[in-house]
Amino acid sequence: MDLIAIVVGLHLFVFGICVEGQGLSYNFYENSCPQVEAIVRAAIQPIFLTDPTSPAAFLRLMFHDCQVQVSCADILVLAAREAVVVSGGPQIKVALGRRDSPFAPSYKHADSLLPSATTGVDGMLQLFANKEMTVEESVAIMGAHTLGVTHCLNILNRLNQADEGGQVQGMAPGFESFLRLNCPQGSLASNASFVLNDPTTLTFDNHYYKNVIRGHGVLRVDTEMIMDPRTAMAVKRFAANQDDFFQAFSSAFVKLSNSGVLTGNQGVVRKNCNALD
Ligand code: HEM
Repeated sequence: MDLIAIVVGLHLFVFGICVEGQGLSYNFYENSCPQVEAIVRAAIQPIFLTDPTSPAAFLRLMFHDCQVQVSCADILVLAAREAVVVSGGPQIKVALGRRDSPFAPSYKHADSLLPSATTGVDGMLQLFANKEMTVEESVAIMGAHTLGVTHCLNILNRLNQADEGGQVQGMAPGFESFLRLNCPQGSLASNASFVLNDPTTLTFDNHYYKNVIRGHGVLRVDTEMIMDPRTAMAVKRFAANQDDFFQAFSSAFVKLSNSGVLTGNQGVVRKNCNALD
């Protein structure tokens, strides 16, 4: 599915009906477009129904948009919020009024702003501390990995870093064998093959943390979170109590989606999300 095309379509649809006001607030579209949330919901529900992988993609897209200021920010935040709810996660109240970036970063620059598959707990905590998140919120936002998949391309590097005993640090031996079987070294399919981020990959729940505790974390940061004394307690708490996870995730989601936004007269409102006009 071409997510950009869908977001462009959504933007044109909402932009055609709504006129933006000023600032970032919970009633930003109250007069100009009181139905905005329902409009976005109605537009993306059919996508969720026809493509079960789309909630994960929308959630990740929102994160990447927040990192590199792409565009159509309000709509991406609303779409990500719906993605969480439709998958069984919490209903998150978000403030609106983001404007679009007047610039488009190059692919190379955009990539440099995103965390890589080899990012560890240090990098993760630094990234989210810059967005005013507490350690607990940082661990909670990583719970987004309760949805979706990781491609073998992003796993092979990790499997190559086995210690002298042939083991990847912190990874359960059975899980390591599973990954090696599904992501064979040198496989030409490493960009096409993938593993699930957690066994309930379509459901937004706290299985991600249970997996991390069992040594079934797919990415380096997943595994390190239970080994690092700064993050281990929150991992255990979220694994034991889904409500605590949902609450901390909601607060982290709001901080992530409010960070570095353009409001008021800043930036532009693009009629076409993937073009600077
Ligand atoms: C240090 C922080 C993070 C790192 C290093 C990281 C890394 C990754 C990597 C390597 C993948 C696999 C991509 C692939 O192989 O296709 C992935 C998937 C994903 N990430 Fe993250 N991520 C981070 C934070 C986040 C955050 C904050 C969110 C959302 C709020 C998020 C949401 C997702 C989702 C939903 C997927 C699955 C995408 C899909 O299946 O379409 N991640 N992440």
